Amino acid sequence: VRLDAVPKGPGQLAAIDADTKALGFSMGSDPCTGSFLRTVAASKSRGTLLELGTGTGIATSWLLEGMDGQSTLVSVDNDAKLVSVARRHLGHDPRVTFVVSDGGSFLIQRKAEGRHFDLVFADAWPGKYSHLDEALELVAPGGLYVVDDMLPQPNWPPDHQPRCDALVENLSNRPGFRVTALNWSTGLIVAARSS
Ligand SMILES: C[S@@+](CC[C@H](N)C(=O)[O-])C[C@H]1O[C@@H](n2cnc3c(N)ncnc32)[C@H](O)[C@@H]1O
Repeated sequence: VRLDAVPKGPGQLAAIDADTKALGFSMGSDPCTGSFLRTVAASKSRGTLLELGTGTGIATSWLLEGMDGQSTLVSVDNDAKLVSVARRHLGHDPRVTFVVSDGGSFLIQRKAEGRHFDLVFADAWPGKYSHLDEALELVAPGGLYVVDDMLPQPNWPPDHQPRCDALVENLSNRPGFRVTALNWSTGLIVAARSS
């Protein structure tokens, strides 16, 4: 590990990146976020993990590389074309389940079922800028909620900063969560649910 080096990614990443570029999809997680997720996933022995916003499976591949053999990951996206890339490269792994669905409906349903996850990586609109309460309620005691892209990004629309500020404020004042903002990668926020 070097502090100034781009982290080396999972074996499938180069092929996923190539397909992602070919599709013109530019919202994939960056390698530093991926490395962080891989480390956090490794800390969740026999964990149940959730990714909101599969995209083409970039962060999914990092999460899977960190997870142990007994951990499972559900990854949700409403764009079947993007998810087909993730499935093609990662679908052979029995630990991951891809769900093509609206993230908001998924969160409402899982909340009604009383489901909990040890790690929620919220990388779609639902679970971050909508349905935040539902996403946080799914975090198990001792579990983590993680978001990236909290530092200004070149592809942000002009009205996005206030939304981002509101999310930071909202998370900072959440009873039952210990929150840290990391000036790392695209800007991460990590919220741990107190036991
Ligand atoms: C930032 S990208 C995810 C990137 C991905 N995690 C990665 O590492 O490459 C956001 C994703 O959210 C998905 N998305 C947008 N609205 C959604 C919704 N309502 N429900 C589910 N997914 C949604 C988009 O299709 C897109 O793939």
